[in-house]
Parts: sequence; structure tokens; C-alpha cells
Amino acid sequence: FSLKQHNSFHFDIYADYFSAPQNEEEIIEVLSDIKFKDLPLFVLGAGSNVLFKSDFKGLIIKPDIQSIRLIDENEQSIWVEIGAGVDWDHFVQWSVEKGYFGIENLSLIPGNVGACPVQNIGAYGVEVMDVITQVNGIYLDTLEPFSFKNKECKFSYRNSIFKNGLKGKTIITSVQFLLHKQGILKTDYRGINEELEKLGETNLANVRKAIVHIRESKLPDPQTTGNAGSFFKNPVVDKDTAAKILAAFPEAPYYVVDNQHTKIPAAWMIDQSGWKGKAMGNVAVHDKQALVLINKTGKANGNEILTLAAEIQQSVKSKFGIEIEKEVNVI
Ligand code: EPU
Repeated sequence: FSLKQHNSFHFDIYADYFSAPQNEEEIIEVLSDIKFKDLPLFVLGAGSNVLFKSDFKGLIIKPDIQSIRLIDENEQSIWVEIGAGVDWDHFVQWSVEKGYFGIENLSLIPGNVGACPVQNIGAYGVEVMDVITQVNGIYLDTLEPFSFKNKECKFSYRNSIFKNGLKGKTIITSVQFLLHKQGILKTDYRGINEELEKLGETNLANVRKAIVHIRESKLPDPQTTGNAGSFFKNPVVDKDTAAKILAAFPEAPYYVVDNQHTKIPAAWMIDQSGWKGKAMGNVAVHDKQALVLINKTGKANGNEILTLAAEIQQSVKSKFGIEIEKEVNVI
């Protein structure tokens, strides 16, 4: 089964088996099938945050649950349950059209709803942990259902229990969100207010438009140029390390995380190390955002991207003394 349309790097790779169940019963049916019992199993979302190093000798299961269900509402708020297979940005668009606040800053992030809690997607000052109330799914070994409240998901920056203790052990079937009928728009992230001025009024729909515009101008469209968004996480360093970097590079951008920790943008360090726009065979560093590695010719494979990534990590380490960690899931 070709995975070319199921991984946003568009690597030409294959899986022995592929299944896209449309509801919980179908998931359990596939997982109970004796044919797959001893094979490696991987749960895939839209494939926008994975790097396959080679063909997958096992079963890929891609939940295709497409429901949008209202759970409850009152004058201020609404609770919805969204199926794992719903395209994330389709949900954002739906929410903005209905006038519900909370996820507009997460516009145009590639991926499916089922994957959004795994890496706690975030952009422009909002993380999805801010609006998730519950994550539902099935344990892969016992086939028992689970429901985790927000706290139990152990969310942090680009992280959750689904990437740690429960890595490879669950399949998420739906996610519950709390959205608001009136809200405070977050427009303080660099660049948003400038875009809003061009659009005229500051309102929910225009915040989405502004963010879509910013993303389209910086990030390559995965439909045409294979990529997986940010390839690395922004490193969180202690305040002494941050002070040293700021003394050596007074123009360095940074975000204060808490009174002990500071985040230094990996994109800036990669850019300063001279990598922005550089190509290496079939792969390259995107010329408008140094955090994004691309399948430049469309003919790349995972190992080429990993070789480029390792060279970048080395350069950043020798220039700044900081190890940058991959954000993309390597399979
Ligand atoms: N910068 C450079 N050179 C570049 C790109 C950026 O010097 O080539 C500098 C910018 O000037 C800025 C800083 O680096 O001062 C940060 O850049 P940006 O605002 O573009 O954000 P980022 O930290 O690189 C993060 C997320 C993105 C998210 C943006 C916007 C991570 C790993 N990435 O990127 O998320 O869209 O903020 O909020 O946290 C993703 O995870 O796939 C993703 C795209």
C-alpha cells in the first residue's frame, strides 16, 4: 500500500497493510484480526508530523472517524466532540464560521484532530491544551476504551502522555473541546496586528484570515513541497544559558517560559548558522523559515532528511552550545 499521499514529506514508501476504520467498532475489528496479531502496528493521523525511514513492515491504522458532535452549551460556552479523522483546519474553519472562540490562532495547522493532543499543537500564542477538556480512545493491547481529562493528558510544550508513557499504546478516537461564544482575541504575537490593520476590523474571522496569511507566506504548502512543519522543537534552556547567549548575541529573539526557563527559537539559531535556504541533494532548509526541512525535488527519502537534520544539529551545537531536539516523529 503506497504511503505517498499519507506522509506530508511525500516519500515514496509502502506499508504491508493499511486500514482506515470509520468508527470504534471497525477499529476493534481490525485490531482483533488474527492476521495482524504479531505484526508491528502504527497509528497514523494525516501524516504531517512523521518521517518514515523506510517501508513499514506491518499494519498502518488511520482512524477516519468524521463526526462533529455537540455535547453541551450554555450562554457563554459550547462543548463539542470531534472525531479523530476530521481535518484539523476544517474544525477551525467550522468553529470560526459558527462564531466560537478558542482555536482561531491554530488556523491552517496541517493534521487531523486525533493527532492534535499527541504533540499539543501550538501556534501564535495558543496551544491546543488550552481548549481540550477530554481525549477519548482505545488501548491497543486490551482494546478497552479510555477517557482522559485534560490534566491526565500531562500536556506541556509540544508534549503529552501520548508521546511518553503511552507512546505507541493507544489509538485516539475523538477529542472534546470547550469553545466560547464571546472571547478575547490573542493578537499580541509578532505580525498578527500588522495583518489585522490591513484587514480593517479586529474580529474572529479576521484573526483567522491574518494567521492563514502569515502561515502561507512563511511555510511551504505540503501539497506542493513535502515537509512536516517545524522539524525541531524550540529548546527550553535555563536562565543562565539564556543570559550567556544573549550576552554573545544581543539581538537574539527569546520567549520567557517561567522565571527559570527561556525558549530560544531554533529557527533563529539555524538561520544564524547559515543553513537557511541551503540544499543538500534532494532535500533543503526552507528559504523562508529555517525550522522547516523540505523534500525539494520530490524524490527525497527519510535518510536524506535525517542526514541534513544531523548536520544542522551539529552546527547549532558548535555555535550556540545547545542541542536542538527533533519535533517530528521518526518511524
Ligand atoms: N527566525 C529566524 N529565521 C527564520 C525563521 C525565524 O531568525 O528562518 C526567527 C524569527 O525572526 C523569530 C523567531 O525566529 O524571532 C521565531 O520564528 P517564528 O515566529 O516563525 O516561530 P518559530 O518559533 O520558528 C513556532 C512553532 C510553529 C508556529 C510558530 C508560530 C515550534 C517548534 N514551532 O515556530 O509551529 O507556527 O511558532 O507560533 O514551536 C510546527 O510546530 O510545525 C509549527 C509550524
